[in-house]
Amino acid sequence: MIAITGANGNLGKAVLSFLLQKTQAANIVAVVREPQKMAQFAGLGIQIRKADYNDPASLETAFQGIKRLLQVSSASYGEQAVTEEQNVVAAAVRQGVAHIVYTSTLSPSENPIFWGGQACRQTEQSIRESGMRYSIFRNSMYMETIPLFIGSAMENGQIYYSAGNGAVSFVSRIDIAEAISKILAQPEEGNQIYEITGEKAFTFADVAGLLQNIKGIACSYTDVPGEIFKSELLNAGLPEEEAVFYLNMGDSITAGEFALTDPKLEKLLGKKRLTTEEYLTQLLRNSEANAG
Ligand SMILES: NC(=O)c1ccc[n+]([C@@H]2O[C@H](COP(=O)([O-])OP(=O)(O)OC[C@H]3O[C@@H](n4cnc5c(N)ncnc54)[C@H](OP(=O)(O)O)[C@@H]3O)[C@@H](O)[C@H]2O)c1
Repeated sequence: MIAITGANGNLGKAVLSFLLQKTQAANIVAVVREPQKMAQFAGLGIQIRKADYNDPASLETAFQGIKRLLQVSSASYGEQAVTEEQNVVAAAVRQGVAHIVYTSTLSPSENPIFWGGQACRQTEQSIRESGMRYSIFRNSMYMETIPLFIGSAMENGQIYYSAGNGAVSFVSRIDIAEAISKILAQPEEGNQIYEITGEKAFTFADVAGLLQNIKGIACSYTDVPGEIFKSELLNAGLPEEEAVFYLNMGDSITAGEFALTDPKLEKLLGKKRLTTEEYLTQLLRNSEANAG
């Protein structure tokens, strides 16, 4: 049996859809905290089990009989994220999971700037020490998050952010999901740590250049000092926690924590990765179609 945590999230749902093409539904368990969110998969023959990363007993029950597990990283911050992820690893060990696939981050260094890096580093360590076989996906930033960072630039071409000249190897979440589904269906030999990135890394000035080519209007990037950027987000009504998140990501990008590129994703997929330019072109086409 193969289980997917966070199965109703963006990544989990995509993994589930790919996995359904590779193995029988009866082999698949979707682990979610609100089963009603899985309505679109009800009736396909998968099992839906309820568990919360904060409730170790629920995780242990959900992992009964599971041999391969996708652990989708926590959506929480700081120590909370560490606890949630350690709960998942411990429950997997207790239930005899043979092989764990974990979605980490690109630079889980000792002292990462990225707020999620610390939890990922500790979870990776626990997994390596657990005795389970592992495949760790160190994912760069999803290209699907670009609209969150560039805001109204999709319409007016003006990007304001505090990411300096830092570059990001944006990667398609759908490509990541397909690669994970392949590993869940048929793991490679031994333990693996994959750096999962796009083909190239782009600064936000580069993203403005891509937008300019695609939209045919003048586009630019303005690097806004972090504290000014944060106070503008707060003035616009964003909660403090979210403003801090965007500021932290900007600092992390400036420091190059998402700049690495690696060819492994294409080897796993057996095809070309989606490029950032292709993604933006599709995005603009869709938004124009919706507007029209
Ligand atoms: N590389 C990147 O650019 C990037 C960007 C965003 C996030 N991430 C990380 O990658 C993960 C997957 O991405 P995604 O796009 O699929 O995120 P997502 O759509 O927000 O999905 C997160 C999933 O985690 C589940 N979850 C959250 N807290 C939980 C808890 N306490 N117990 C059980 N399940 C819980 C959510 O369930 P509910 O629906 O019940 O909340 C949801 O299914 C995220 O959780 C985050 O750690 C990476």
